[in-house]
Amino acid sequence: MSARATGRDAAAIAHHYDVGNDFYALFLDPLMVYTCAYYRDPDGKLEQAQADKLDLVCRKLRLAPGETLLDIGCGWGGLSMWAARHYGVRAHGVTLSRAQAEWAAARIAEDGLGDRCRVEHGDFRDLAPGARYDKIAAVGVIEHVGIGNYPAFFGRVSQMLNDGGLYLNHGITHEFHWRRTSQTEFLYRHVFPNGDLAGLTETLTEMERARWEILDVEGLRLHYARTCRQWVERLRARADEARALVGERIYRTWLLYLTCSAVSFESGAIGLYQVLLRKQGDTTGGAVPGTREDLYAR
Ligand SMILES: C[S@@+](CC[C@H](N)C(=O)[O-])C[C@H]1O[C@@H](n2cnc3c(N)ncnc32)[C@H](O)[C@@H]1O
Repeated sequence: MSARATGRDAAAIAHHYDVGNDFYALFLDPLMVYTCAYYRDPDGKLEQAQADKLDLVCRKLRLAPGETLLDIGCGWGGLSMWAARHYGVRAHGVTLSRAQAEWAAARIAEDGLGDRCRVEHGDFRDLAPGARYDKIAAVGVIEHVGIGNYPAFFGRVSQMLNDGGLYLNHGITHEFHWRRTSQTEFLYRHVFPNGDLAGLTETLTEMERARWEILDVEGLRLHYARTCRQWVERLRARADEARALVGERIYRTWLLYLTCSAVSFESGAIGLYQVLLRKQGDTTGGAVPGTREDLYAR
């Protein structure tokens, strides 16, 4: 990827995230997770469901103490901190948003996790060529990659994963044929200037082309519909504070985008999948048991 494209991505990320940490804190959960939650209780609360999602990701990756985890597009660092605190890994988060990285660094220090967890501001593509990790997660990142860049993206992730390692990709998909609509035009112009979404099978094909073995695929579409509904409720409940922080236009734009997203997940126009992968031909055994039972044993 060229430096120009990288710069364009950074500008697109700044457009979305530099709206401000305080604004996002109005409607996200206290861990500031900005992706689909996991409702073990269908009527559950956002806080619990986000904690359960972070835990599900750690369980799927079969994290073990002392392992290294790369959290690509780590947002405000929720997964990195959860994995370091509860699974004893050495977590490294990278985000293109400076505002997120600063917030995460302060929280890591406050929580005394600095010896095991760090969040860096930058593009994951700029990590040292020799950087290697036991486990890698990219939660809510594929939406920013650009469909044409999937081969480079999945190839780079593979390069950074140690043999025997696992990669979890958590991301939104679009119904089979991507097309521009008034809704996607609105999103491009006002919300996510660099966003686009592929279908699930298209994504899996690119993963296989990049020589990943697909171990597990789980659809969580209705979990994301509920997450978006809860974000909308929470944002509306703090409307006055939101307007004071970002103004009427951005408040309404975000309310509209989150509501449209909920409707699109409900109708099935978009989906959400977690895909667990290991490198094809990896004969080192890895950490994956033959069944999913360990994921749900508590
Ligand atoms: C929807 S947020 C998800 C954040 C977090 N993973 C979560 O679950 O809350 C997408 C994140 O991807 C990051 N991102 C997108 N492209 C990136 C890149 N090339 N390098 C590093 N971070 C990137 C953004 O800065 C943002 O933190």
